Amino acid sequence: MTLPEQGLPVDEVLRRVEQAAAADLPWREGLGWSLVYNAGEDHMSLVEAAGARYADANGLSHSAFPSLAHFESEVLEMVASIVHPATTSHGIFTTGGTESILLAVKAYRDARGEGRTTIVVPRTAHPAFGKAAQLLGLRTRVVEVDASRRADPGALAAAICDDTLVVGVSAPNFPFGVVDPVAPIAAAAAERGVGVHVDAAVGGLFLPFVDGFGKPFGLDVPGVTSVSVDLHKYGYGLKGASALMFATKELRHGAYFLDTGWPGGSLASASVTGTRSGRAAAGAYASLLRLGHCGLRATVQEIMATTGRLVRGLGALGITPVTEPDMSVFAAGCESIDIRAVARGLQQRGWWMDVQSDPDALHFVVMHRHAAIVDRFLTDAAAVVADPPPRSEASAGGAYGVMVRTDTGAADPIEALKHYLDGRYDQTS
Ligand SMILES: Cc1ncc(COP(=O)(O)O)c(C=O)c1O
Repeated sequence: MTLPEQGLPVDEVLRRVEQAAAADLPWREGLGWSLVYNAGEDHMSLVEAAGARYADANGLSHSAFPSLAHFESEVLEMVASIVHPATTSHGIFTTGGTESILLAVKAYRDARGEGRTTIVVPRTAHPAFGKAAQLLGLRTRVVEVDASRRADPGALAAAICDDTLVVGVSAPNFPFGVVDPVAPIAAAAAERGVGVHVDAAVGGLFLPFVDGFGKPFGLDVPGVTSVSVDLHKYGYGLKGASALMFATKELRHGAYFLDTGWPGGSLASASVTGTRSGRAAAGAYASLLRLGHCGLRATVQEIMATTGRLVRGLGALGITPVTEPDMSVFAAGCESIDIRAVARGLQQRGWWMDVQSDPDALHFVVMHRHAAIVDRFLTDAAAVVADPPPRSEASAGGAYGVMVRTDTGAADPIEALKHYLDGRYDQTS
């Protein structure tokens, strides 16, 4: 479409904005298993109101908006008090898990690099480590995980070489929901003088409240030198919010971009972005203040109860977790059932299913909203398992975060992903 000559009436603009949502993930009804984390309508209303109040505030300048500096530093302190209560950390408020990992890796490169160019990660680490490596001119060394899909401390330690800049691990990893053995890995890395970044994007505000988990994963663990925790996941803030916390100021300085040569003035930047809305900082602040320890614990307990119902119900159908998850994120499959056909059948019944490969499995991130709908899901799943639709080649691709079709004519999977992005930006209506 082209820009209209005359601006449209308000009602028409709102109608078009609303209409565009028709094809979106129906997350409010609980029909999807990823992408939107929330803690109920009342909580979201509060968080959105706080965010809307600061939507136009610009995080580029904490001098002009001390409110945002206040929200960000308070959020960092609250998160630190949960993740590593015994250690002082030096944080940066970022826009999400990816930016946190990118800035963490930049910090190691610029504060401790000394020519070291390789990030060592288990195969289950988030692709944001690979993205960081590509953007920062580094390399990743990817190490196979053990049978439980956790990083293998021995294999990771063996992969640390003279060129290793940092080791990255997950708490938990996204594909399987299991936490890497942080303590032995951090100890082995520390012996070699190498830092460890713990990506606790998903688990940072969840694992500390899971009954019986009890393993520290933050800066209290000797050898862990940075950790990231997303507020827009199980912190129930607005999207664009993550806490990146370093063990030392020296490391945090490595994440900064500082420039004094520009005629427009000096720039002191602790983020990848320039201008950014104050929504996310105000939303994260409001969310944590409203929930407190008790609220976070209660949501975790409710979600773990729902997770248990889901795992047991799927198990009764023969679909079991690929590995026993440490929290509310897991993959479930079955050697004797065509999982892709099951996913397709569920999609035909209105569910938005995430499918991953290696092995083929349905992927679940359980939220508060699923408590009300898990029984309906299990009823539908039972019907589909009993009578699965024929497998469609068009739905054969498993892809994270994007629904990539493999019927585009592109033989190479990387070409298929490129085609997907081209299509996303080239669409005309
Ligand atoms: C373990 C983990 N790390 C990092 C990320 C990236 O976070 P974001 O999408 O906020 O950039 C995700 C996203 O799901 C994740 O699951």
